[in-house]
Amino acid sequence: MKSYNIAVIKGDGIGPEIIDEAIKVLDRVGDIFDIKFNYKEYLMGGCAYEETGDPLPQETIDGAFKSDAVLFGSIGGYKWDNLPRALRPETGLLKLRSALGVFANLRPVKVYHELTQASNLKEEIVSGVDLMVVRELTGGIYFGKPREKGDDKAYNTMVYSKDEIKRIAKIAFDIAQKRRKKVCSVDKANVLEVSQLWRETVEEVAKDYPEVELTHMYVDNASMQLILDPKQFDVILTGNIFGDILSDEASMISGSIGLLPSASIGGKIGVYEPIHGSAPDIAGQGIANPIATISSASMLLKYSLNELDASMAIDKAIAKSLHDGYRTGDIAKYGVKKVCSTSEMGSIIADNIGVKKQ
Ligand code: IPM
Ligand code: MN
Repeated sequence: MKSYNIAVIKGDGIGPEIIDEAIKVLDRVGDIFDIKFNYKEYLMGGCAYEETGDPLPQETIDGAFKSDAVLFGSIGGYKWDNLPRALRPETGLLKLRSALGVFANLRPVKVYHELTQASNLKEEIVSGVDLMVVRELTGGIYFGKPREKGDDKAYNTMVYSKDEIKRIAKIAFDIAQKRRKKVCSVDKANVLEVSQLWRETVEEVAKDYPEVELTHMYVDNASMQLILDPKQFDVILTGNIFGDILSDEASMISGSIGLLPSASIGGKIGVYEPIHGSAPDIAGQGIANPIATISSASMLLKYSLNELDASMAIDKAIAKSLHDGYRTGDIAKYGVKKVCSTSEMGSIIADNIGVKKQ
């Protein structure tokens, strides 16, 4: 039997609830496909700060490096909003991404056929959307120096080296090659020097991919085009902050931010997490949508473990659960048979993978 070590970081807010469901589903897929998952839990975020005084204890970094992949829920909460930057929950996550070198964040946006009416956008606009945001994750304004917060003045720096742009562009083109062969690079080259270099570099990389069509779009226009006609996009390649913003926007095409998974790859160990936050307003109520996290577990199987059949089994089980009319509250708009709790939704998805062998 194959066996893998998964570092599990539940985090804050709804993190523990949604991770429990992802584990439930992973265990079931493991039973069916003869895979054993060994989970080890680590602290990060507000909970880590409370216990250790550090939002990313060294033990968590070491644990991540010793694992085959990291499954992560969410971090943050009102309680820690006034902490100095170095101690904030978000700093823990950013440091983990940086430490692991996961520079490529893949955020697929797929509209489930059953949920075309769950989006606030018209059905004909969202139906059939299938795009991938490739977000640079360990550079740009999130990490650029100098940065400082003064009382009267504060600044951050958006910086990208040519090498950083090249490696993320390659990932986007490689992915596009296996999809519909279109890359739209999103920047703000009409205003920012860093975007000018971004554009030039992406053009250079494109020469190695003659069969992939490359277009460029300014980020303001891209945010409008995403809502106007999301089907025009195949792969969206963009920097850290633009990708953060555009992927939240794109989640509304799918109907709920509770649906979108992500994979952070490019380093030695991949990190898999939903794109949404810790939703402190609904934490502990058992109503959060676990699908984004379960779907992230599917990406973990695909990208870190190369367990493609198991990954596909999860995707199919999610689709079947939606097809059968099961919905958490956030997507309980049309075609609902039963409004489910977080844990009911996880169990239904697990059951749709199959029944345990005796
Ligand atoms: C995300 C989140 C993070 C980010 C925060 C929590 C640091 O919004 O993963 O999209 O901005 O990258
Ligand atoms: Mn975000």
